[in-house]
Amino acid sequence: MCGIIGVATKNKQAISILLEGLEHLQYRGYDSAGIAFIHNNGIQIIKSQGQIEALKQKVDLTINSNLGIGHTRWATHGRATTNNAHPHQCGKITIVHNGIIENYLTLKEELQQKGCVFQSDTDTEVACALLDDYYAQYQDMKQTIRQFMKAIQGSYAIAAICMDEPNTIYAIKKDSPLLIGTSSNQNFIASDIQAILMHTNHYYLLDDLEFAIITADSTLFYNQDGIEIMKEEKEASLSANSASKACYEHYMLKEIYEQPTTLKATIETVTKLLKTNTSLLSRLASYKRIDIVACGTAMHAGLVGKYLLETYAHIPVSVELASEYRYKQNFLDPQVLVIIVSQSGETADSLAALKMVKEKHIPTLGIVNVVDSCIARSVDYVIYTQAGPEIAVASTKAYTAQVICLSLLAFSIAKQKNLLAETQIEMIEKDFEQLPELISALLANRDDYKQIATNLYSHSDIFYLGRGLDYALMQEGSLKLKEISYIHSECYPAGELKHGTISLITEKTPVIASATNSILDDKTISNLKETAARGAPIYLITNNVSLSNDPSITKYILLPSTTDFVLPILVSIPLQLIAYETALVKGCSIDKPRNLAKSVTVE
Ligand code: G6P
Repeated sequence: MCGIIGVATKNKQAISILLEGLEHLQYRGYDSAGIAFIHNNGIQIIKSQGQIEALKQKVDLTINSNLGIGHTRWATHGRATTNNAHPHQCGKITIVHNGIIENYLTLKEELQQKGCVFQSDTDTEVACALLDDYYAQYQDMKQTIRQFMKAIQGSYAIAAICMDEPNTIYAIKKDSPLLIGTSSNQNFIASDIQAILMHTNHYYLLDDLEFAIITADSTLFYNQDGIEIMKEEKEASLSANSASKACYEHYMLKEIYEQPTTLKATIETVTKLLKTNTSLLSRLASYKRIDIVACGTAMHAGLVGKYLLETYAHIPVSVELASEYRYKQNFLDPQVLVIIVSQSGETADSLAALKMVKEKHIPTLGIVNVVDSCIARSVDYVIYTQAGPEIAVASTKAYTAQVICLSLLAFSIAKQKNLLAETQIEMIEKDFEQLPELISALLANRDDYKQIATNLYSHSDIFYLGRGLDYALMQEGSLKLKEISYIHSECYPAGELKHGTISLITEKTPVIASATNSILDDKTISNLKETAARGAPIYLITNNVSLSNDPSITKYILLPSTTDFVLPILVSIPLQLIAYETALVKGCSIDKPRNLAKSVTVE
């Protein structure tokens, strides 16, 4: 959470580079923003509550500056006010920070005893004051940073400017992402390459407990002992356009409509990887249990993976929330594979769970979207989903890419173990091939979902029901609606509703359900009738044509008949569009819902 950027340039355009970069980092938090830049031999700071637009109103773009740092915030310590917004300044030091300083209260007391007066409620201001305190002692930034790293507990990606060195930015990192971008006559620091892609796709990754010294024509890297280190230059394959909104009203809509392409790319890449790396596949097939560990939507993708891996590959799977898994007894041994699923590859709890597992020497596989992210670099094996940059906070194309990846794993392992008949294999392979077309057909019916949205938007509670695989899918459908439309929704296994929660069902609680399993459909329909009997309008997603005659159902969404390996994607598309259209009718901030952030780098 929080996005940071910095630039040292000879072209005097630092301010516009910072503002443009911050726009691309807003997915990391957007409750306040600020920049600090060198001007008239001093450091000028401009901050604002709210999104970057509000900050832009305060900035004079005609000012020339060769160096600056910027920040977009997701509040942790202190409310989202202008005062708490970054950059923070103490004495000669100005910083922006992403992360959490865990021992900030102790440090704050020590600094207050030395006479330091704090202006904000943030942990960042304490970090800034500590840097200034060390700088006053050492008069040397390298020495200052080394002492700082020893004193600080917690996570940080920091960009710092010292008043005595107006041509230099210092970058310091532990547990929060930070990269250094390079091009001729200007160098950058950023939380994510997307922030600087319009200037360069060449970059260096800073590792934990390293720091860098950046000027317009040099980048130097150091370890925590202050010894200079060499780093490998990387080149991002993304282009600046890949993160644009194109002609769509929202990033979320664009990302929903990109799914035929992103899924095709993911299917091709993962199929090729599993076909060519036969030793990886035999290893994957040999594990006696799999723990899938993730947060949020990625955890929901894991639930679908569990169903497919257990049903078809005959491997018991446990799906765990990373924030719980990392602190509990897990009964791990080398016969257990831990799969970490993560779009960003930097979610704090998923990363911490991964570290815990690695310390026990348990094999790990990452299913990750962002190339070279912390999780991707830390796992034993990585499979990259090919969703491309996902900007909308509510995940759509990254989720379906994770699901298809797990589906391909289940299929490949089942084949490897000879658990599928030849005819089944042929049908499944045909389904994977046809999937992009099937999705395009569903996406062509946007008006259907607009209609459903006009029926849903005024309700304050909506129930999502399903059994088996449908239950796993409904959990994500329910989350999507909550995230962006702010309508409360509950997801329940259809058979469990009567054990208490049915007391909440009335004509004011619409029910959205899916029934796509011929063995369970009748049972699900009986449960839906129980809700219809209490007045609830029912919206049913199904691939079973015979269900479409039932008068107790308000509206059907009929899916083509497919195997379970692609079915989860087909169910997800209507759920995404129902959430999107409902939020649209309500006039919500779809791409940046309140209180959320896309990349959660705090516990
Ligand atoms: C945040 C996002 C969710 C995401 C979750 C896990 O909560 O808002 O959309 O599913 O983090 O993120 P990851 O990057 O690990 O998939």
